[in-house]
This record gives sequence, C-alpha cells and structure tokens, in this order.
Amino acid sequence: MACMHIRLNPARMGSETEVLEQSLRKLIVGQDEAIQAIVRVYQMHSTGMSLPGRPIANFLFLGPTGSGKTRIVEATAECLLGNSRALVKIDCGEFQHSHEIAKLIGSPPGYMGHHNTNPLLSQEALDQHFTCKTKISFVLFDEIEKASDALWNLLLGILDKGTLTLGDNRKVDFSRAMIFMTSNLGAAEMSALLSPRFGFAVQTQGSGETGRLENKIGRSVQEAARRKFAPEFINRLDKIVTFKPLGTNQLRQILDIELKRVQKRIFSGGPRRSFIFTATNRAKELLLREGTDAKYGARHLKRAIERLLVQPMSNLIATEQVRGGDCIRIDLDRSVDRLNFIREEEGLAVSAMTELVGFALPAAAMATSTSAPLETIRTWTSTLFK
Ligand SMILES: Nc1ncnc2c1ncn2[C@@H]1O[C@H](COP(=O)(O)OP(=O)(O)OP(=O)(O)O)[C@@H](O)[C@H]1O
Ligand SMILES: [Mg+2]
Repeated sequence: MACMHIRLNPARMGSETEVLEQSLRKLIVGQDEAIQAIVRVYQMHSTGMSLPGRPIANFLFLGPTGSGKTRIVEATAECLLGNSRALVKIDCGEFQHSHEIAKLIGSPPGYMGHHNTNPLLSQEALDQHFTCKTKISFVLFDEIEKASDALWNLLLGILDKGTLTLGDNRKVDFSRAMIFMTSNLGAAEMSALLSPRFGFAVQTQGSGETGRLENKIGRSVQEAARRKFAPEFINRLDKIVTFKPLGTNQLRQILDIELKRVQKRIFSGGPRRSFIFTATNRAKELLLREGTDAKYGARHLKRAIERLLVQPMSNLIATEQVRGGDCIRIDLDRSVDRLNFIREEEGLAVSAMTELVGFALPAAAMATSTSAPLETIRTWTSTLFK
C-alpha cells in the first residue's frame, strides 16, 4: 500500500449542497446563520450521516415578526421540492386545548368522528410532497409558545424518537423530516436592546460593533427561550437561531426579490395575460419609504407593494389598459408622491419577455408568439431583472 499524505478539506461542501446554499441566498436576506444551519443538516442527510432514529433536524427559530422565520422554510421547500407550499404547517395557537389534538393525530377507533378524521400529521401528509429526487418533508410548528401541554408531549416524542403514534395506533415516521419551530419569544428583549440605536444597528448588520450587539441580542433572546421552555425541550434541539431585525439595506434587497415574485405572479396568469414591468429607482425608494416599519419587518414592505403597486396594476389589467405582451415602466410621480405606470412597449413575444426577466413561463405559454422589439427595452429592464 502506497504511503500518502494528502490533506483533505472538510470545509468543502458537495455541489448539490452548494446549489442549495446559493439558491437560499437569492431568496433569503440577512439571515445567514439560519441558511448555514439548514445547509449543514442537508449535507449530513444527503451523505447518510444524520443520527438515525430521529428527525433530520430540530430547529427553533426565534426573532421578530416579518424577519423570515417562516419564509426560509418555504424557500427551502421551494429549492428542494420545487414548491414553496410543500410543507406541513401547524399553527400551535389553534391547538391550545387538548381535545383539538385529535385534528393532528386522529381519534382512537370507536370514538365519534373516528372515520372522518384526516390527521394532519399522518404519514401520507408527511410524504405527499416527496419528489423522485428528494424525499424530505418539512414540518413547521408556528408559535410554539402557544402550544398546549398535550401538544408539547406529542412534540417531545417527535423531536426525540422521530415517531408519533396516531389515535388508531399507526406509527408516523419523522426520520425524513426537518422540523422547524418558530416563536416571537424574546422579540421584546431584542427591541429593548436595539431601540436607542436601531437605525445604526440594522443599517450595518453583521459588522464590527453591530456584530457584538447582535451576539448580545442573540444571547438575550436565547436566554428568554431557556426561561420559557423546559430543559427537555431545549435539549432535543439541534440549533436555536435568532433571526435578526431587518434594516434598510436588507429591505432594499427584499424589495427586489418581492418585485420578481410579483412578476412571476403575473406570468402565472397564463400567456394571454403575461406582461412585464420594471420599477425605477425612484419608484423603489417610494416603496421602501412607505414599506419600512421597524416593528413589522418585511411584512410591512409586502403590504406597501400590494397597496401601491399590485392593486393599481390589477385595475389596469381589469380595464385592459395593460394587456399581454406589454412592457410597463413604474416610476415616481413627484407632484403627487405616487407611482405612475407607463406603457413603453406592446405586442412583445412570450419568449422575449422570459428572456428579459430571466425566468421561464409554463411550457404552454411559450406557444403564443408575436414579434419582439427586444433591443429597445433590453436596456431599461436589465436594471430590474439582474
Ligand atoms: N429575511 C428575509 N428575506 C427575504 N424575504 C423576507 C425575509 N423576511 C421576511 N421576508 C418577506 O416577508 C414575508 C413575511 O416574513 P415571514 O412570514 O417569514 O415572517 P416571520 O419571521 O415568520 O414572522 P412571524 O413571527 O410574524 O410569523 C415573507 O413571506 C417574505 O416575503
Ligand atoms: Mg412566521
């Protein structure tokens, strides 16, 4: 046997895992710790190195409202299963009373309603989104601080052994599930620490003094969690991640992501309704100004986009002022401090539109095609659809 001395690099990740990380970074802003945590467990799972007899991962996500706790789970499902809704979501607030647990696990045989119960946590529910390539389910327990004692007991069993016994004694296997639990617990402590210097802290997320403040916030939020939750629960977690409040820089990036999602929504209406739009920097600044609220994070920004951009756009569609194949520029009308909508092109082919926005329409949509004055609009759309 030849004697070798080759230094190996355990920090390098597999190409699939790298793709997952890059895709998540395109969808999730400012929450690198959470992305890292997900990517690491995915790597462990895909190489068969996860601990057997328990879920792939048990995560607790803490932090303020609208900071991406739920979105990152949806985004992971989107990246790995091709569908952001491919998850089982349990709002713990809806299961505060023990009798409501039957909705999750079904009733024992002989009980009233036994046959009509379709347990939310059945094996079928867990496995329904598996694809040929990826057999992972994503289970999200939202607002766990609101869970009843009965739900806690059930959760502890899942987190520890990766199994759950249904009302009719069937077993559900969670060993192919990533479990995510979210809570706003500690968000009050977080805003108390941030309030005197909120502007500074969030503008420069991740750097120097702010980094130290972030660590302090992380510790204080996690202490709040440790005070609230029993040690047997905390002990079953693989990782507690504190989501950071989003500052202007992060919201600006989220705005671009959300505008792309609006564009996708337009395309999902079919080829006859598909048009493209771009927003100027001045228009984006207005959306950002109207959509910034430290308390509600990106939720407020999304509401501003719906109110100021999507709703007027739906009026334009309904009145046929905007039609399939159009290119709409959205700018700021300074005189009234509102967005205005200008049609700059019409009769654009679907293929031209998809090339400009950089993502595909459903295959059927590609069939319709008219002439494409591509060059004329390529320049101004390139700023939005990077
Ligand atoms: N970090 C982020 N990156 C990208 N988009 C985000 C981010 N945070 C929030 N968003 C956007 O805001 C929306 C609301 O965020 P999300 O539902 O993840 O909030 P949350 O942290 O789960 O809040 P809550 O505690 O109220 O449930 C998301 O659907 C997404 O569009
Ligand atoms: Mg949420």
